[in-house]
Amino acid sequence: MNTATARAGANIALVKYWGKRDPRLNLPAAGSLSITLADLETVTRIEVDQGLDADRFELDGRSADPRPVAAVLDLLRPAGGPRCRVVSRNNFPTGAGLASSASGHAALVVAAAAIFCPQMGSGDLAAIARRGSGSASRSLFGGFCQLHAGVAEDGSDCRVEGLEEAGYWPLEVVVAITDAGPKAVSSRAGMNRTMATSPYYPAWVASVSADLERARRAVADRDFDELAEVSEHSALKMHASALAAQPGLLYWNAATVACLRRVRELRDQGVGVFFTVDAGPQVKAVCLPGQADRVAASLASIAGVEQVLRSGLGPGARLVES
Ligand code: DP6
Repeated sequence: MNTATARAGANIALVKYWGKRDPRLNLPAAGSLSITLADLETVTRIEVDQGLDADRFELDGRSADPRPVAAVLDLLRPAGGPRCRVVSRNNFPTGAGLASSASGHAALVVAAAAIFCPQMGSGDLAAIARRGSGSASRSLFGGFCQLHAGVAEDGSDCRVEGLEEAGYWPLEVVVAITDAGPKAVSSRAGMNRTMATSPYYPAWVASVSADLERARRAVADRDFDELAEVSEHSALKMHASALAAQPGLLYWNAATVACLRRVRELRDQGVGVFFTVDAGPQVKAVCLPGQADRVAASLASIAGVEQVLRSGLGPGARLVES
């Protein structure tokens, strides 16, 4: 096979990944639990081109640095194997804390594996996606899943566990975009700085497994209030550890904070909604079925909210055409 196209949905961690136990193998210091989205997606087409002497990468219609893509391709193609033309498109702002690296790496790995390692199973694909970006391994799976940190030095027990498919609990996500520009400090740089300098980092790592247990139980019981509490706790605690780095990482702007307050006001009024925030200023509001219209209208009315996106939960990364 000489060409393959794959699509992958972004995913949003409810229990966050923030820090590594092995930067070389990109092994997380603690586990994470996420939901995969249906409607925020990356589509990536790979074409083998025997005439190329180096990989080419085009992202959202512009030529981009091919090195991160080449590094992932090198994990799948034989040594000295052919170079590729990789064309990738996100249907949402890239690099703004909306998990574009997760869906991007997941789509890349699925398309590249179809060409170079068609027999590879989803566990191995997830491990390769994780080398590209820790959160990417979770986009291989749909619905609800957990990335286990594991303890093995070679990372063999750092694996993704599918918890439930998307249809099990059709939550909806409203994303309030408060600044669509690229973020100032990437997740990777931010977590590395937090690990190296934040006095709160050890407390963060030590507390994640209890959050994971709580979140797993909340998903198993479809207990939205419990999932809301643990998810907001995990997000705020991740940002607290990052704020305490040196220099402190402040990913939020005024509209971010206004959205967080609004989500809590809505919940106080009985709306089934909670927030989470990644390494950027956008707010993701997770809603019970039937609540997203009200949440989207409310967040859209906040000064500084540029755009509101919506998505249901969706499947894991898949080939769409070969
Ligand atoms: C805040 O997966 O982008 O979104 O493994 O270094 O590529 P690397 O980091 P990345 O970090 C994601 C951080 C987060 C939380 C999360 O998705 O769990």
